[in-house]
Amino acid sequence: MTKTNITIGVVTVSDRASRGEYEDKGGPAIRSWLEETLVSPWRAVSRVVPDEQPQVEAVLKELCDEEGCCLVVTTGGTGPAPRDITPEATEAVCDKILDGFGEQMRAVSLQYVPTAILSRQMAGIRGRSLIINLPGKPSAIKECLDAVFPAVPYCIDLIEGPRLETNPEVLVAFRPKHACK
Ligand code: MTE
Repeated sequence: MTKTNITIGVVTVSDRASRGEYEDKGGPAIRSWLEETLVSPWRAVSRVVPDEQPQVEAVLKELCDEEGCCLVVTTGGTGPAPRDITPEATEAVCDKILDGFGEQMRAVSLQYVPTAILSRQMAGIRGRSLIINLPGKPSAIKECLDAVFPAVPYCIDLIEGPRLETNPEVLVAFRPKHACK
């Protein structure tokens, strides 16, 4: 097997999926989107956790600090319901918040569904990791990743992570010619 330094965390935040009452569809949807898009060798580290803020924070810290993920993508728990706490957990573990991700995901998602306004999804930086929240629905996962991923490889360059290359026939990653750093 090829050794790779690109590790991507995939976190499904769902009470029902974590109890096994419900098949996790979000994690597999993220992994297959990434498989189709990335040409650099990478490996996924996947976790399914309940909607409990301390557990979500712990898994985000583990994936960033111990597994060395340059990117962690979460799915679920972004809405207004009492147990939706993924954005709070993300904010609590991040050093910097990248507001543009949430703005862009909601702007694009509103073209698909008016309820996109209900998602509080966000993104931030913890050390050398980028964490991005996505809603739970598999169709929302694709809609949101298509909307923000063009900026992700350059963001990971800026936080001194590994170089991510995409298949340009699937998604063109934007890197400024004169890097702003
Ligand atoms: N975004 C996109 N692109 N497509 C969708 O279908 N569903 C919305 C919203 N964002 C949706 C979307 C709905 S119905 C909800 S309740 C919120 O995401 C929060 O979803 P979550 O609690 O599963 O994270």
